[in-house]
Amino acid sequence: MNENATPMTAAPAASLPEDVLIILPTAETVLFPGVVLPIAVRGKRAIAAAQEAVRTQRRVGVLLQAAEGENPEPDQLHRVGTVASIVRFVTAADGTHHLIAQGEQRFTVLDYVSREPFLVARIEAHKEPTAVGKEIEARALTLRERAIEAMQLLPQAPAELGNAIRAIDSASTLADIVASFMDLKMTEKQEILATFDLEERLDRVLAFLNRRIEVLKVSRQIDERTREAFDERQKEAVLRERLRQIQKELGDKGDPGAEAEDLRKSVAEAGMPPEAEEQAQRELARLERMPEGAAEYSMTRNYLDWLIAMPWSKLDPEQLDIDRARAILDEDHYGLDKVKRRILEFLAVRKLNPEGRSPILCFVGPPGVGKTSLGQSIAKALGLQFRRVSLGGVHDEAEIRGHRRTYIGSLPGNIVQAIRKAGRRNPVLMLDEVDKLSASHQGDPFSALLEVLDPEQNNTFRDNYLGVPFDLSKVLFIGTANVLDAIPAPLRDRMEIIELAGYTEEEKLQIARRHLLARQLSANGLRADQVQISDEALRHVIVDYTREAGVRGLERQIGALLRNAAVTIASGRAAQVSIDVGDVQGILGAPRFENEVALRTSVATGLAWTPAGGDILFIESSRVRGRGKLILTGQLGEVMKESAQAAVTLVKSQADRLGIDAAVLDDSDLHIHVPAGAIPKDGPSAGVAMATSLASLLTGRTVRADVAMTGEISLRGVVLPVGGIKEKVVAAARAGIRTVILPARNRRDLEDIPESVRNRMEFVWAEKIDDVLARALETAPVQRAAA
Ligand SMILES: Nc1ncnc2c1ncn2[C@@H]1O[C@H](COP(=O)(O)OP(=O)(O)OP(=O)(O)O)[C@@H](O)[C@H]1O
Ligand SMILES: [Mg+2]
Repeated sequence: MNENATPMTAAPAASLPEDVLIILPTAETVLFPGVVLPIAVRGKRAIAAAQEAVRTQRRVGVLLQAAEGENPEPDQLHRVGTVASIVRFVTAADGTHHLIAQGEQRFTVLDYVSREPFLVARIEAHKEPTAVGKEIEARALTLRERAIEAMQLLPQAPAELGNAIRAIDSASTLADIVASFMDLKMTEKQEILATFDLEERLDRVLAFLNRRIEVLKVSRQIDERTREAFDERQKEAVLRERLRQIQKELGDKGDPGAEAEDLRKSVAEAGMPPEAEEQAQRELARLERMPEGAAEYSMTRNYLDWLIAMPWSKLDPEQLDIDRARAILDEDHYGLDKVKRRILEFLAVRKLNPEGRSPILCFVGPPGVGKTSLGQSIAKALGLQFRRVSLGGVHDEAEIRGHRRTYIGSLPGNIVQAIRKAGRRNPVLMLDEVDKLSASHQGDPFSALLEVLDPEQNNTFRDNYLGVPFDLSKVLFIGTANVLDAIPAPLRDRMEIIELAGYTEEEKLQIARRHLLARQLSANGLRADQVQISDEALRHVIVDYTREAGVRGLERQIGALLRNAAVTIASGRAAQVSIDVGDVQGILGAPRFENEVALRTSVATGLAWTPAGGDILFIESSRVRGRGKLILTGQLGEVMKESAQAAVTLVKSQADRLGIDAAVLDDSDLHIHVPAGAIPKDGPSAGVAMATSLASLLTGRTVRADVAMTGEISLRGVVLPVGGIKEKVVAAARAGIRTVILPARNRRDLEDIPESVRNRMEFVWAEKIDDVLARALETAPVQRAAA
């Protein structure tokens, strides 16, 4: 205690030499130069120091305590602090003291010259460099930007702070102010304060700030997600948690020791690979240390359940008997010969080369043509589990790869979920609607999917939730899509595309007879001998009550017919019901789709390819007084507009040969309209029909009603080939058309057209527009009403 006897104590403080500083210890404030902060003054020495400084108008040296407690000794204080002037000293009504201090300059304590009644130290003050180099300027610039970014993420940050930060032009002040306002630990702030080298200091502040911004972003995302996507599964998690609490309240405690024991056993039996097992052990150990009521408890418990439930090493033996597979495919599906053949080829290759990389099949076709049910048959044939993963509308990477375990209700992605449900490591996973994935700011689901499908990577697929790799290499993936073009190219490259077109009337009738009827009978609790439906009735339903490439609507309508019969039988009015064509309308109501050809006027019938198969499409043109303008309506896409322009130019340039009066053309506007709202009208295949419609309008020769056409045209009248011939022809047949005009260069597509359709249709192969007009237009001009 000989410090008490130092001259300092005895001498009046006013006589303190110039090179010493009154030290103000603080427990919870790191004051930086350039910053004004309130500082709580606690402890005898601190109060005495503050009072003395105020009385003598001296500066103080603000030093952070390294240890807790009032009246710290010199060795309990950090050595680097900030010289500060006292703006105000406040003693509150309750006797506590504060002072408002303005930080000025860093200093280092050299030694203490007095300890009582307050600490006094000899110090060395540090000047900030005034001239700074490029390195520092660049860092200061980044820091300013990042600081402003951080403030935008913090809704509670005062607006003035942003302006203040923008206004600071000294790099050192900027670093100090940012450090001061960040919510860092005291020790972290002290660390920054004690970094004299400006470049290094800027780096440190930037590093803290970047980390902070990441945290802010993630927590904002989580906030948003929890708010937005408080969906079923999260609700379930919360309810479960509440249930647990209720059980606890009711004293239904269970035995935590036994629970841990059970978990340990399950982990051991789950057949996990080493990395997963270690992870499980770690989590288990954590769980045991946690109080059961903790929110984290249920999260950890859930996670462990997932790890345990995953089929890490459960494999079904794959049965690869080609004959059996053929039998199963035939049993479940009528027709589709080419598709079945390709599936069998695929299976044969798999059998011969089990370790080889088999391609990923992808069924592409309109709704209801059997894509999903073919996948089910494949699984059945191989003796494997079948699961669907719907990708339609998935736009968040996390839906595929899972959410990190950061909030209640987070779950693995849909791939891992499907595998868990399958309970095997080698199920058939059908990735439905790969054409309807979409990218968004939530991350790119495509790249996640690519990783899932990549044989180089998918044996260590890492789901964000599981956090440990899971081997997907034994999964048999099959994709489905409605539209080939909508599948992103990298994904398409990885898959073997198998296209399924729509069914013809005849095929639908057969499918109804062989499959749908039986299925609907049993679904409605009927026996085959209780209800008869005639072929004519079925045909009537197919033609006039459904308009689809597949058979889903047909199945529904058959269901409706059978339910009606079921009522009759159940009410005892009859033991047997037979439904004929005349009964259909009474049961199903008026036909949904009139046969459109019967209603048509003298316009050209085009053929369109649509995602739902194919459709006919009418192209009308008319002429009004004007000056040679072209009016297009019917919500045409760009390509189709160009087709229309080409058609007009072609017809005008051949006006002479076609016998069109050029003068009429000069004082007319031409109007082309394509009705029928739902058909997407974009694609280069309507040129021929447009030219035909225009030629009909201008020559007065009617377009024949029983002819439909597709094809593009060049300006010189050459008919160019187009896609989707099969679907279009099938659609034409469905609409009751018997003659189709197709581009000669599409002749090779003929073999794709189902034989039953091919036999009923007449095909005209056109090289030039003249071939089209010769066939499509009536020879004699009719008298037309003036336009
Ligand atoms: N060739 C067929 N033989 C027997 N049944 C069929 C045939 N094609 C389709 N079906 C039946 O039609 C129904 C619809 O088929 P499915 O669900 O497989 O359509 P999808 O092509 O997957 O359609 P989506 O694109 O809408 O998913 C199923 O009940 C299926 O069994
Ligand atoms: Mg499907």
